[in-house]
Amino acid sequence: MSEPEREHDADTESEAGDTTDRNPVLLVRGDREFLVQPGEEMGTDLGVLEVPDDVEPGQTLETHLEEEFHVRRLRGPDLFHHFERTGAPMVPRDVGLVIGETGISRGDHVLDAGTGTGVLAASMGRAGAEVVTYERDADFADVARENMELGGVADDVDVRTGDVVDELENLESSSFDVLTLDTGDAADVVAHAPDLLVDGGFVAVYSPFIESTREVVETAHEADLANVRTRETIQREMQFDDRGSRPSTAPVGHTGYLTIARNE
Ligand SMILES: C[S@@+](CC[C@H](N)C(=O)[O-])C[C@H]1O[C@@H](n2cnc3c(N)ncnc32)[C@H](O)[C@@H]1O
Repeated sequence: MSEPEREHDADTESEAGDTTDRNPVLLVRGDREFLVQPGEEMGTDLGVLEVPDDVEPGQTLETHLEEEFHVRRLRGPDLFHHFERTGAPMVPRDVGLVIGETGISRGDHVLDAGTGTGVLAASMGRAGAEVVTYERDADFADVARENMELGGVADDVDVRTGDVVDELENLESSSFDVLTLDTGDAADVVAHAPDLLVDGGFVAVYSPFIESTREVVETAHEADLANVRTRETIQREMQFDDRGSRPSTAPVGHTGYLTIARNE
């Protein structure tokens, strides 16, 4: 299935001030989608559309040129398609693996690094966790804060500008339930995992490269973490046509290695 046309660079202008207590929605027309906040004015080649403050999923809205858009509730995978991109965002499948393998849920305290686009951080916020996430690139961190507003999780995800490795001593008193790391220097954080995590807490490290993954695994063993295991996160797409059904002949795309370990 082809991906929907992405419109996250659309000419949109917020006239609503603070929107953190209202839910963003998707405006959909065919394969075109816009992620907007209630109260926003959206400008497109199909005309200008005023998004009502009390906009509800299921409604149909019209631009001033009487072009229709359907209102749809934002769901997790939409973050990947509509957030402004900086650091390579985690694909929905891998977000699911991180959340599934660590059990992240309501009330958990999570330390995340690096924020990047913020797809993983926002997804964990939407699952009910309180997330502290570090991004060492100040411009990326600014974009991530805007993405958290867009994703409706600005109150749940604290985007901090800085290098997480420099902050470890300050963070050790915080007792996190889960650490999620998507950085080349993740092993430096994993070495401190026993001091950062509650008993039974998880660390999840995502890396596209086997070299840094091996370093993480060795560091996790040295730190006496339990249940250390790594899997490549691969899926094969299936193809159904008139001739029959089989795995797609397109190459299986590598995204990353996911290492999970537990503090015991
Ligand atoms: C691959 S992106 C993370 C993507 C993110 N998981 C998502 O789903 O959108 C990695 C980010 O980590 C940041 N980074 C790398 N090392 C870091 C560190 N030690 N502290 C904070 N941020 C770091 C990079 O600047 C980059 O933006």
